Amino acid sequence: MYLHFIDTLRTHVDGIDTPGERIDMTFDPGRPFNDLPNLPPAYQTETHAVLRSCIAARTALEELRVSGRFIPNQAMLINSIPLLEAQASSEIENIVTTTDRLFRHANDATGQADPATREALRYRTALYRGFTMLKRRPVSTAMAVEVCRTIKGVELDIRNTPGTTLINDATGEVIYTPPEGEDLLRRKLSNWEHYIHEGGELDPLIRLAVMHYQFEAIHPFVDGNGRTGRVLNLLYLVDKGLLDIPVLYLSRHIIRNRALYYRYLREVTTRHAWEAWILFILEAVRTTAEWTTGKINGIRELLDETADAVRQELPKTYSRELVELVFVQPYCRISDVVASDIARRQTAAIYLKSLTAEGILEEIRAGRENLYINRPLLALLAEAE
Ligand SMILES: Nc1ncnc2c1ncn2[C@@H]1O[C@H](COP(=O)(O)OP(=O)(O)OP(=O)(O)O)[C@@H](O)[C@H]1O
Ligand SMILES: [Mg+2]
Repeated sequence: MYLHFIDTLRTHVDGIDTPGERIDMTFDPGRPFNDLPNLPPAYQTETHAVLRSCIAARTALEELRVSGRFIPNQAMLINSIPLLEAQASSEIENIVTTTDRLFRHANDATGQADPATREALRYRTALYRGFTMLKRRPVSTAMAVEVCRTIKGVELDIRNTPGTTLINDATGEVIYTPPEGEDLLRRKLSNWEHYIHEGGELDPLIRLAVMHYQFEAIHPFVDGNGRTGRVLNLLYLVDKGLLDIPVLYLSRHIIRNRALYYRYLREVTTRHAWEAWILFILEAVRTTAEWTTGKINGIRELLDETADAVRQELPKTYSRELVELVFVQPYCRISDVVASDIARRQTAAIYLKSLTAEGILEEIRAGRENLYINRPLLALLAEAE
């Protein structure tokens, strides 16, 4: 039982200690880190390098926010970028699915997706749900619980049993043992929550980095802490007005630099190495904001090209709503066209078939119905660069 418990908590930690690094002797990776310091950090976080990097990240984020506003239908973004984010963030946990499967099952009520796809879709749902909750309440412990429940698909709560450890999968070595005791965890979370919302001059992006470390160090749940923390990052950016909608592919940078992510997290604990950690998160925000802006611009161009092509080649089929629909739903069903009030069933079928004949969509049979796929959009979204 115990072994199984540890096994389910197993995490992939592949950072390696640099020889000669200064280890803080009060920290023992095998013992619950109940001495985790409260926020704010007692160490300088606004160094020169951090402030410089922060400006670059803020600029990139603002460009992303503005580029999103040029997309006529926000559903196109909210239906696509969070799926990519869900894919990458879940992959950090070794839950591997494909962009294709995710989009295919994104609105699939039949639940036919494989378990990994379903789990990644729950991450996407958690992000949406948190985004909706933000209209009523800010980022909080209660929101973290709700996000983690949605990701894991179980009614869990703050940990109240011992035994949670982070283990290096390759060597079996215990990397970190988070604090224990439900009361202590709740006190730490309340300090974390207070820090997120306290006033002050500190740039919200620096606060984001500190908040993410602290959440992971508290590790309030038995599992799902990494993914919950990464959802909260995006919700925080919306909460603070740096994004209008949670469309930043932040986990892209983390999955690509997973070993560094783990290493910098650990070195905040062992060496109070805040600067390297904060710089890592700022760089993640900057590069993924730039990447996402590029994608949004690509989506807009493809939308315009597609609309022009349909208008010219299929004037009887053309409506702006129809073209937008196959961008909102890159796996489109006849029933989607009907539900969008574009046409009744028979006409809707004719529309999708003529878009297929024109090479704009691809038709596949899925069970008892047809799916019409916007391949160029999926290819654009799945492209590595
Ligand atoms: N040394 C460390 N100190 C604090 N937190 C860490 C450390 N190393 C890794 N973490 C965090 O713990 C997370 C793993 O915890 P957990 O298994 O509960 O989350 P998960 O969402 O199931 O997994 P994953 O984050 O791998 O997808 C990592 O993603 C990372 O955010
Ligand atoms: Mg896990």
